[in-house]
Amino acid sequence: MKLIVILIPIIAFLLIEAKTSNEEWKHFKAEFNKIYKSNQEDQKRYKIFIKNLKNIRAHNQRFELGEETYMQEINKFADITEDEFTKLYGLYERSKPVKYDTYRTLNETESTNNATDNIESLDWRDLGGFTPAKDQGLCGACYIFSVIGNIENYHYRKTGQLLSLSEQHVVDCLSNYTCGGGHPAYVFQFVANIGIHLESDYPYREQQNECDNTTQPRSNVTLSDIGVVTGSDDDLKLGLIENGPLSTCFSVTANWRFYKSGVWYHNECAQLSNHCVLVVGYGTENGHDYWLIKNSWGPNWGDNGYIKMARNTHKNYCGFNAGLYPI
Ligand SMILES: *[C@@H]1O[C@H](CO)[C@@H](O)[C@H](O)[C@H]1NC(C)=O
Ligand SMILES: *[C@@H]1O[C@H](CO)[C@@H](O)[C@H](O)[C@H]1NC(C)=O
Ligand SMILES: *[C@@H]1O[C@H](CO)[C@@H](O)[C@H](O)[C@H]1NC(C)=O
Ligand SMILES: *[C@@H]1O[C@H](CO)[C@@H](O)[C@H](O)[C@H]1NC(C)=O
Ligand SMILES: *[C@@H]1O[C@H](CO)[C@@H](O)[C@H](O)[C@H]1NC(C)=O
Repeated sequence: MKLIVILIPIIAFLLIEAKTSNEEWKHFKAEFNKIYKSNQEDQKRYKIFIKNLKNIRAHNQRFELGEETYMQEINKFADITEDEFTKLYGLYERSKPVKYDTYRTLNETESTNNATDNIESLDWRDLGGFTPAKDQGLCGACYIFSVIGNIENYHYRKTGQLLSLSEQHVVDCLSNYTCGGGHPAYVFQFVANIGIHLESDYPYREQQNECDNTTQPRSNVTLSDIGVVTGSDDDLKLGLIENGPLSTCFSVTANWRFYKSGVWYHNECAQLSNHCVLVVGYGTENGHDYWLIKNSWGPNWGDNGYIKMARNTHKNYCGFNAGLYPI
């Protein structure tokens, strides 16, 4: 009798748990258009999803207790493991670190940061000139998205015209294996030399195809040089105020993937540079200083495609020690 009294609530609890998990799974698949090739695959993905769901719930409970500085959410990445994510989205640690020094042979103009005024926050989006966050998909072209977003904003500040420009043009024509990663400096150089097609003329395909250079780009976008800001968090902040958004690469861990809101902070960063983004501002939220960052995982990721990452917690947290801008 005692046993039954104890067991009934446990069984009931387990049934409810199973039912809600199943519903969450159905909901997830519908929301993100997930179709799996077999029942077996569906079951495999379901197990991974449940594990991610539990971790995300635990994380958000810690957030409620003030033990974390940001919230997580289930998103399109919830049916893959962390390992799969780092491989699929190019977040793996490259064998060679990407050092800005390597690229100093390009015409880079050192920015002279004279600004002394202490502006508490800045969001370049306030002045307009940004396309919605784009989605690199299964191509490790974050460095191309970082630079194209930067050039879109640069062209807007110069001409008042906001154009969506073509990442695919660079993916196809810059060099071989562009989906395997690269450096923003080469993308600036490419656009300075070749120009850049409109997104609508050369749409994104998530993989490298043959370079189509049979027509001239119609965007009229021109740049002449690359500027670089390096140094402390304060130097980077002043560089951002004086020069506009900064294209940068640094080393983040895969738990960026479930970011929803707040200031992302993790006690570990990857050892080597593994992701490139566009820094568009900075500020302080609930006592946490942050960099405001446009990412390339689509508008349905994070905070409308953006993330706030910790600033001033360490010197050059996660290796953010330099940024490039178009001139
Ligand atoms: C780039 O550097 C080369 C070699 O130093 C120089 O001749 C050229 O004028 C520079 N271009 C610009 C736009 O500064
Ligand atoms: C910046 O500082 C340098 C050296 O102190 C000075 O020559 C230059 O005029 C300053 N520029 C501005 C815009 O204040
Ligand atoms: C890509 O690789 C092939 C074969 O190695 C080479 O012939 C070609 O020139 C390369 N293309 C570019 C754009 O680097
Ligand atoms: C077009 O692209 C091909 C392959 O990348 C290259 O060999 C050729 O020089 C390019 N032509 C022009 C006009 O840029
Ligand atoms: C580029 O310039 C040409 C010639 O002035 C103009 O016809 C065209 O509309 C411009 N392209 C864009 C995207 O504004």
